[in-house]
Amino acid sequence: MRADDITGAVETTEAAPAKINLALHVTGQRADGYHLLETLVTFTEAGDAIHVRDADADTFSISGPFSDLLRAGDGGDNLVTRARDLLRDALASTGQPTRPVAIHLEKNLPVASGIGGGSADAAATLRALLRHWNAVIDPQKLASVALALGADVPMCLESRSLIARGIGEDIEPVADLPELFLVLANPLKAVSTPEIFRRLLDKANPSLPVREAGGWMEFLAQSRNDLEAPAKALLPEVSEIAGMLSQEGASLVRMSGSGATCFGIFHSFDAAQKAETSLRNKRPDWYFQATRTI
Ligand code: C5P
Repeated sequence: MRADDITGAVETTEAAPAKINLALHVTGQRADGYHLLETLVTFTEAGDAIHVRDADADTFSISGPFSDLLRAGDGGDNLVTRARDLLRDALASTGQPTRPVAIHLEKNLPVASGIGGGSADAAATLRALLRHWNAVIDPQKLASVALALGADVPMCLESRSLIARGIGEDIEPVADLPELFLVLANPLKAVSTPEIFRRLLDKANPSLPVREAGGWMEFLAQSRNDLEAPAKALLPEVSEIAGMLSQEGASLVRMSGSGATCFGIFHSFDAAQKAETSLRNKRPDWYFQATRTI
């Protein structure tokens, strides 16, 4: 019997909150093709979850409403196992051996939907494994492991409100964003991020607006998601679902990331829940989730 079985210290769990781009301005393009962004990002109670246990050999399993899509699509390679392997290599290089682990992903968020998904899962895996292995890593090394996994992984590692610049790795925390009540809405059609970026003709768009103290709502009203137009051109359902959120009384409706998920901001959690119920009745086959920022 292993020590863990005796102590009962078995499982490490980390939430993988959904990432919402409240504003996303594309301001340029690097020589390597990656786009320069300025984005205001927040995170929600709605999300996936990562569970880690000791095991005789590394394993990975998935459950949840969207697990089949992942299982079918990735042939066993995914951002969670890549995060595990990259972190293990980084720790090995500083003389920290790591035990094999069974990782379980609870997949609650739609796949390829502009709200973090895989990036949030990868970031939660890094946080969970560091705790589970009781490992120490230089913050800059961790940041580079995160960025190697994807441009959105560093912000998901933070999982609190922030403004990100560069391709997403230059992060400035935002302390005074008010709690927001949201409905996330997705027509359950996966969108390819590279495809949406390719379809964005104008790469040099205006920066995020200047914010007056406390004026977040004005800031949001004056900002945009530059990827919304190409996503709507590719997938008409994005316009349709955004219109449905407006009809439910959202004070602001916008797409997150490269889509197709749109969010509506409501004045209370109760109003968001009522909108979710109404939207589900209208389109039982689509994804609607009332949630709040964390
Ligand atoms: O970094 P990640 O793997 O999430 O990005 C997926 C793709 O999206 C990239 O290969 C690139 O084509 C595009 N992308 C971009 N500019 C960014 C982030 C992503 O062009 N800032």
